[in-house]
Amino acid sequence: MHVLIINGSPRVQKYSNTDKIISALKEGMEQYDPGITTELYSISDRKQWDDAREAFVRNDEILIALPLFVECIPGLLLEFLSTLPPKDGHTRMSFVLQSGFAEASQLRCGEKYLKTLPGRLGCIYKGTLIKGDNFSIRLVPDDMKKKITAPYVQMGKVYAEHKGFDCEEARKFAGPEYFNAPMRLILRSIFATFGRIMFRKTARSWGCDKPLNYRPYPASR
Ligand SMILES: Cc1cc2nc3c(=O)[nH]c(=O)nc-3n(C[C@H](O)[C@H](O)[C@H](O)COP(=O)(O)O)c2cc1C
Repeated sequence: MHVLIINGSPRVQKYSNTDKIISALKEGMEQYDPGITTELYSISDRKQWDDAREAFVRNDEILIALPLFVECIPGLLLEFLSTLPPKDGHTRMSFVLQSGFAEASQLRCGEKYLKTLPGRLGCIYKGTLIKGDNFSIRLVPDDMKKKITAPYVQMGKVYAEHKGFDCEEARKFAGPEYFNAPMRLILRSIFATFGRIMFRKTARSWGCDKPLNYRPYPASR
């Protein structure tokens, strides 16, 4: 099996969490069947669009991995998708929709859209792997990156076995739809204390020399 993988994040490949998730998925696919090959294009690099479009036409096994941006599909990916020619109904198309916040419920709107997309492009829908809680991937050292993305290795195997994510194992991977009340309280206190310190530290390491609540302009009336 040869899989065309498209990274739909607008973030450059080096810093893209989706890219690290894709690497783990590929590892899982290769563990399941060393004969599986892949080719990867990143939408963040417009210079790859022509090759990605040509690969879309040529391939029958397509996996698009994307981050949730403002509760929805990144605009840059939509722009790319709008340039694709429709196919003839034999191509399998699956998705990975991943996000920063952890509850699966907030990804359901994007999932609904992705369910409609293969039909519009003359492809067959083969499921969407949904998972939140991925904010930190690009911020942590390499060994921790490996730990965080390890569950995606297993999902790579699931993808290879089912030729997509239309199966119970993939559906379960989404985790809780909503956190229960005690968990919400715990998270609120973590964000108000430890989280705040970490956000400040990260901002400083990126060269930010103003407080995170800095408001240089007066609020408009
Ligand atoms: C502009 C922007 C909007 C985002 N909107 C959401 C959102 O609505 N919900 C969410 O859970 N995460 C949101 N995130 C977080 C990303 O989905 C998350 O960090 C993801 O892992 C980024 O993947 P990438 O590095 O491949 O782009 C947003 C991130 C950015 C930069």
